[in-house]
Amino acid sequence: MELLRLDGERLTLVLALEESGAADLAYIGPRLPGDEDLAMIAAAGARGRHESQPDSPPRPGLFPERKGGWNGTPAVVLRRAGRRVETDLRIAAWERAERALAIRFADRLAGVEVLLRWRFGAGDVVTSAVTIANTGEAPLAVERCAALALPVPARFAEVTAFAGRWAAEMREHRRPIRPEGLHREGAAGKPGFDGAGWVLLHAGDETLGAHLAWSGDAWLTLDADPPGGADGRAQLVTGAALNPGEVVLAPGETFDTPEAVLALAPDRSALAQAFHAHVRAEVLPERATWGPRKVHLNSWEALGFDLSEPALIALAESAAALGAERFVLDDGWFGGRRSDRTSLGDWTVSPEVFPNGLAPLIARVHALGMDFGLWVEPEMVSPDSDLYRAHPDWCLHTPGRERPTMRGQLALDMARGEVRDYLFARLDALLRKHPIAYLKWDHNRDLFPAAPGQTEGFYALLDALRAAHPHVEIESCASGGGRIDFGVLQRTCRVWPSDNNDAIERLRIIPAWSQFLPLEVLGSHVGPSPNPITGRRLAMDFRAKVAMFGHMGVEADPARMTGRERETLAAHIALYKAWRPVLHSGDLHRLAHPDPAVTAMMVTHEGRALVLVAQTAFSSMFDAAPIRLAGLDPAARYRVRLPEPWPPRAQHYLADPDLWREGLVLSGAALMTHGLALPLTHPETAWLVALERLAP
Ligand code: GLA
Repeated sequence: MELLRLDGERLTLVLALEESGAADLAYIGPRLPGDEDLAMIAAAGARGRHESQPDSPPRPGLFPERKGGWNGTPAVVLRRAGRRVETDLRIAAWERAERALAIRFADRLAGVEVLLRWRFGAGDVVTSAVTIANTGEAPLAVERCAALALPVPARFAEVTAFAGRWAAEMREHRRPIRPEGLHREGAAGKPGFDGAGWVLLHAGDETLGAHLAWSGDAWLTLDADPPGGADGRAQLVTGAALNPGEVVLAPGETFDTPEAVLALAPDRSALAQAFHAHVRAEVLPERATWGPRKVHLNSWEALGFDLSEPALIALAESAAALGAERFVLDDGWFGGRRSDRTSLGDWTVSPEVFPNGLAPLIARVHALGMDFGLWVEPEMVSPDSDLYRAHPDWCLHTPGRERPTMRGQLALDMARGEVRDYLFARLDALLRKHPIAYLKWDHNRDLFPAAPGQTEGFYALLDALRAAHPHVEIESCASGGGRIDFGVLQRTCRVWPSDNNDAIERLRIIPAWSQFLPLEVLGSHVGPSPNPITGRRLAMDFRAKVAMFGHMGVEADPARMTGRERETLAAHIALYKAWRPVLHSGDLHRLAHPDPAVTAMMVTHEGRALVLVAQTAFSSMFDAAPIRLAGLDPAARYRVRLPEPWPPRAQHYLADPDLWREGLVLSGAALMTHGLALPLTHPETAWLVALERLAP
């Protein structure tokens, strides 16, 4: 047996390449000492045969197959001439680099080869991808091919999966792994509000996160204790869901899975930081060159479909007065689109709304010092549209059957070249004609009936547009957070986490997404009060503080705010601008608090830190427990201030307001253990805490 050790910064993997031809994971965990004896690690984890196992116990390892009496979830399902191909893949060769390992498995008899690649990247995030080759003489149908198969150490006893719906994305559900395990599979043609592609495994605080970087349907299986006798370990297997007949390899052809990622960290804050490092360095397009994330004002919740040039110019003027830096014209600007029942596909400026075209509005937006962004939903078509009348066969449909709509619309078949060419021509013409800095790219219908090649077609269109217009920032939106994954983020700069702008809901939604995604990509808008989705009324101070933790924007009509509300909002926009270098480059820490209605998080960066503490319920205590901070240097001293404006009702309870203005000076050790007592008795109270490390 060959034992190979791969080290990240804080993590070690020990891989066992066995004489039997299997590859297994002998260790995954905190970095081991340099002189650790790997044979002893393998011996410490080895099991003798138990009564209910085949005589030579199978080792499913890094690429499980149905062979030798093992009958858990296999990494591949293949067929030739309609018959299941029973593979027996064994290591044929392997190659290791400092932080990567590639293993080639071959089965000559079955005519199949598999190349498995594991690599340590930024943040110690491990990526895994598979290429499968047909080395036989007849076509090979690939029904399933996992991108990652991970033998899960037995210390991981719980799993968090996510459920969700429109306006309530990413609800966490934590449960024991044993005895049933878990199976998730998407069928909507996109990852969905329930984050089907994200999962967390827990061993106490230690957390392992995994994800498939893919914007289409995915499957994920956690076998609790695969029958047939593995060795008590669970296994996590995930890959893109393929349609029947979608991948048929001619002799000599190959198929590549998307990448899966996994990360392991001592706690959930450290795991978030690991994923953020990966996303910043390896996922987001040219993240290092990004300027500050501009404050948006989006027209949707301000004007809806009630658009006109004068109304938009008035909105742009009030946006600029608040400090907005980008004005985004949402739905309703094109074709006959005066409601959501019509005109998707007709991507030309509506003469009805803009008798003078878009140019005067954009010129005014520029004169106000903002740049201009536009909403599009390219992959969709309304039955009532010129596009549909001209090409009724371009949508996903089953000939001879009804064409059921969702939000009054159908989905275009993105696998068709002429569809992509049409969309490219329309969007390219818009981007050439107008100085558009940003596109909000929406996707409001599930993809049914299912058809192959939709995600690849979407990526191809997006890639072609980005190549032609590299400076246009693109946001991924799908009725909110319906298409958020590391595949789409390789091509976009921002996601829309939810249509729900209610700050109380956002206090759950933002921490859920930020487990995987850094704040600078999470669109975070101050919405109207009452909120159009929940009906809740929340004070501007609370809404604005919550919106600062993300890529801040406004999605409400300032003309309908009071003067005091506008002042409060403008003050928070100014604070966001001052703090975004920290919020968007730093390390995110999730802070625990004994009151379940208190949400707190902070970002530390180069000696500065900003904390958000928010209370949503009426506290059972007048004096809520102090907030204990994280991520500070215990030995350093920090000046601690409460940036103003302060929450109007709660500020009266501050013991010594002048001292808080001037700043307390405390060590990192005191801040992380003793904490800060903040007035949090009232529901819907939020505080910001600003920290500056003092020179020693
Ligand atoms: C979707 C988006 C919203 C908005 C509307 C416009 O629902 O998620 O933010 O853009 O479409 O129709």
